[in-house]
Amino acid sequence: MNPTIKRIAINTGGGDAPGLNAVIRAAVLAALNRGWEVVGIREGYNGLFLAEQYPEGGLISLTRDSVRGVTHLGGTILGATNRGNPLRYPTLAETGQLVEKDRTDEIMEGFKRQQIDALIAIGGDGSLAIANVFAQKGLRVVGVPKTIDNDLDQTVITFGFDTAVSFATECIDRLHSTAQAHRRVIVIEVMGRYAGWIALNAGVSGTADAILIPEIPYDLTKVAAKIEDRARRGLDFSLVVVAEGAKPKEGSVSVIAREIGRAERLGGIGEKVAAELQEMTGKESRAVVLGHLLRGGTPTTFDRLLSLRFGAAAVRALAEGYSGVMVALDPPTVRYVPLEMVAGRMKSVPLDCDTILTARELGISFGD
Ligand code: F6P
Repeated sequence: MNPTIKRIAINTGGGDAPGLNAVIRAAVLAALNRGWEVVGIREGYNGLFLAEQYPEGGLISLTRDSVRGVTHLGGTILGATNRGNPLRYPTLAETGQLVEKDRTDEIMEGFKRQQIDALIAIGGDGSLAIANVFAQKGLRVVGVPKTIDNDLDQTVITFGFDTAVSFATECIDRLHSTAQAHRRVIVIEVMGRYAGWIALNAGVSGTADAILIPEIPYDLTKVAAKIEDRARRGLDFSLVVVAEGAKPKEGSVSVIAREIGRAERLGGIGEKVAAELQEMTGKESRAVVLGHLLRGGTPTTFDRLLSLRFGAAAVRALAEGYSGVMVALDPPTVRYVPLEMVAGRMKSVPLDCDTILTARELGISFGD
């Protein structure tokens, strides 16, 4: 039991993911039950070091009332941003140029000024890397692994992933009938950044004919051959799932935008793949981008429960005196792993994993 904690803060950084509100609810109730006060920081860390931007204040008092009825809601009651990385904050230099500036010291001062004893940082790799910096600067921090992409190391799964995969699978199911009715090739682009977890799991579950993931650079002639082979067998339609970070063998990822202070925005690969497959096979092809639809909606039961477990475990970790750790699913338990083992490490799909082997046994093409 740690007697020194009186007031903790919770923040949600980076892209939102279904289950954020469930984590917040569990953490708030577990903390209040220990007699701690809880505040939420608006939009990442912005509410702390850019408080003047928020007329109603940069911090929200989190009470039993404020977390009532939020477990099943998508989004985050605190707001989120992936523009506010305080390690690389876009700042106008004297030269008039936009440069990246480290503003973490200002945030540390904010924590002191607000008498915040500990932070529960709910985020993906970027947010957890920032949380690790605060831990190194002396703040008590526990991280919670969030991302629909499932690309965080040291945890079996992140919350938000199951909801994204379930919805993507439903979309693939729906696209089957229209692809068949029109004898088309439909290319479905899904999020996932530089990892293929969403594409792989939804593609296999939705019985796609080809799945293109960043871990396996593709050769589209192989996919075209698969489509033509299906047509010869009377199956004159095909579904191809492509991860936004997938790339051709001799090419690079498809980037929409690069902006100072934020991660590059991926996208556009679905249209490219559809156009090339149409050219190669002569079959009418269409691209559908699921994009942010995968981030919305009600978390699945799996994600709700996982989020509630993570939120409660984060408070338990603080109460047990841990800091600089992330709660991680290691069935049947939730354990604590050093943030240092997570920050800056990406979990890719292992090429020899059982799901890839299963897909190959089912005849699904990876374009290799
Ligand atoms: O990391 C989650 C994620 O949804 C990625 O899959 C995607 O590349 C990125 O965020 C998109 O972020 P946004 O469009 O919100 O900047």
